[in-house]
Amino acid sequence: MSDPTPPHIARLVPRLGLAGTERVLELGGAPGVAAAAIARLLTGGGHVTVVDRSATGVRRTAERNRDLVGAGRVTVLRQDLAAIEPGAAHFPAASFDVVLASNVNVFWTHPARANVAALAALLRVPGGRLHLFYGYGGRAAHGAVTSHPAGDDGDGARSDVGERVAATLAAEPALTAVEVHRLGPSVEIRARRAAA
Ligand SMILES: C[S@@+](CC[C@H](N)C(=O)[O-])C[C@H]1O[C@@H](n2cnc3c(N)ncnc32)[C@H](O)[C@@H]1O
Repeated sequence: MSDPTPPHIARLVPRLGLAGTERVLELGGAPGVAAAAIARLLTGGGHVTVVDRSATGVRRTAERNRDLVGAGRVTVLRQDLAAIEPGAAHFPAASFDVVLASNVNVFWTHPARANVAALAALLRVPGGRLHLFYGYGGRAAHGAVTSHPAGDDGDGARSDVGERVAATLAAEPALTAVEVHRLGPSVEIRARRAAA
């Protein structure tokens, strides 16, 4: 695929602070643009697992990342994040250095369904990182200003999204160091896996 990386994805990748060998899990990652950008930064045992509940989204993600999937760098799974069970196939407990999601609203619209305890249990102990991003828009590399319609699953424009998501993460005892960062038209909420 030769599409330019959209600004909200270009903004989030450096926020992950990747050294290159991380095991990464992306939640709601269709159509696989972020996974492609992240996977290009990985070496050695670095790996990206992308889950999405949409069959179409999973197909598009696998197609976009065909070469990376073939090389064993990316795995694409149809999976509802709310049903992930630590210890199940593909989801060993304490095995991911980074878990991220971009514009997946369940963390603030339906926090009780966000499965935060299970997601925290997937993070390396201590210090595995959870990064949640909301928002679109900004200036793309080719100069176009892009936006996204509000009100759908990617509606990150509400000013209180950061605080609402932070409250959800702060309520999980296995997470610590919850922070909200404003990134122009986006917001990032991050947390770390606490020591056992
Ligand atoms: C608005 S799109 C954002 C796509 C991409 N992450 C981005 O930021 O451009 C939300 C994506 O999350 C997926 N999604 C929403 N809820 C989910 C859930 N509970 N489990 C897995 N995927 C989910 C949707 O299928 C969709 O692909």
